Amino acid sequence: MFGARCLLRALRSCSSAPCPRHRPAARVSVRGALGVQSANGERVKVQGWIRSIRSQKEVLFLHVNDGSSLESLQVVADSSFDSRELAFGSSVEVQGQLVKSPSKKQNVELKAEKIEVVGNCDAKDSGFVHIHTPVITSNDCEGAGELFQVEPSSKIKVPEENFFNIPVFLTVSGQLHLEVMSGAFTQVFTFGPTFRAENSQSRRHLAEFYMVEAEISFLESLQDLMQVMESLFKTTAMTVLSNCPKDVELCHKFIAPGQKDRLEHMLKNNFLVISYTEAVEILKQASQNFTFTPEWGADLHTEHEKYLVKHCGDIPVFVINYPLALKPFYMRDNEDGPQHTVAAVDLLVPGVGELFGGSLREERYHFLEQRLARLGLTEAYQWYLDLRRFGSVPHGGFGMGFERYLQCILGIDNIKDVIPFPRFTHSCLL
Ligand code: 4AD
Ligand code: MG
Repeated sequence: MFGARCLLRALRSCSSAPCPRHRPAARVSVRGALGVQSANGERVKVQGWIRSIRSQKEVLFLHVNDGSSLESLQVVADSSFDSRELAFGSSVEVQGQLVKSPSKKQNVELKAEKIEVVGNCDAKDSGFVHIHTPVITSNDCEGAGELFQVEPSSKIKVPEENFFNIPVFLTVSGQLHLEVMSGAFTQVFTFGPTFRAENSQSRRHLAEFYMVEAEISFLESLQDLMQVMESLFKTTAMTVLSNCPKDVELCHKFIAPGQKDRLEHMLKNNFLVISYTEAVEILKQASQNFTFTPEWGADLHTEHEKYLVKHCGDIPVFVINYPLALKPFYMRDNEDGPQHTVAAVDLLVPGVGELFGGSLREERYHFLEQRLARLGLTEAYQWYLDLRRFGSVPHGGFGMGFERYLQCILGIDNIKDVIPFPRFTHSCLL
């Protein structure tokens, strides 16, 4: 399959480009190209990833890096090469002449004769950079103590010592690592397995689930964050619907009749926004009897979340500004009162309840310092506090449970039915 695709690509590029009459280009690394002392029009081929792109009226500048050097090679191309596919992160093969650069910034540059995009970068449309956050970590991001501890199965040589010197766990969220990386790239995301030792056999809890998490720098309002969340929900659904309509149809027809219309209803309406305080008022006035009596300061339970979505006409609803005492240490203080809240946002969806959890992050050093001190976490999170000392910026992000997302768009009632090997309390088959 891959071989056939490569062949097709090669054939295509052969038929669209004039067949080279000159000598075949020699393949060089970026490091090799940059090391050429007196470039004189040598024909070379460089393969790498686009690190930046600048388009002017008649000329296009690309910086290409292949990991062989910290510096990138400047590629200068005619503006006719410009295309949607040439974007940050795309992998390219550039053929052309290595010439002396007129700029003082570099010795040489590559005058492009042919640019082939080897791999598109999906992240380019939204500008998010994919970060691989670790599975093993020493932090409990959510502070809920729902951690699986990781230890070697047999005693290591010095039994009184931890393998990593400190206790470590399976990650409950990649957020804190994303926050580190968002200091270098303004928009980052991760997608990977997440683990929670929640003692729950409910229809929406797993001990191991996948989470998409995003973190955005220079973000100052929940409004902006909610826009990204809503757009992720909708564009992903549209992509699934257009790429695998038959599979979706099968679920909608045989497992969840009526789900097609429910999904369309979600996609065509603007999501709603209510505050936590308003949510509690709505619940208090509900005619329904809840197992957990709603009151300000108490967590919203699944029954409350489902009621709220129904109340909002089965349109997904953002609930914002939760009580400070209910939420983790990293959420931004709204400095209000006497009912003290933080800039948190959960997205509640039909059939599932909470699908996304996010917030603005506390970027102000003194607020965070005091919060950590009150929780006795100053020492453990010194590194996190330090991020606020060196060029801290307002930022925020969210996490979306992938299995819950599938439940929501496909209309699957039980989370254990959207994952081949569900792990939950008292069950870890295979
Ligand atoms: O609301 P949560 O706990 O948020 C975080 O972990 C943040 N640190 C994310 C961030 O801001 N980067 O979890 C996010 C989402 C939930 O809304 C839910 O969809 C899903 O993860 N989730 C679970 N899914 C299945 N089983 C569980 N036990 C889950 N716990 C959370
Ligand atoms: Mg949550």
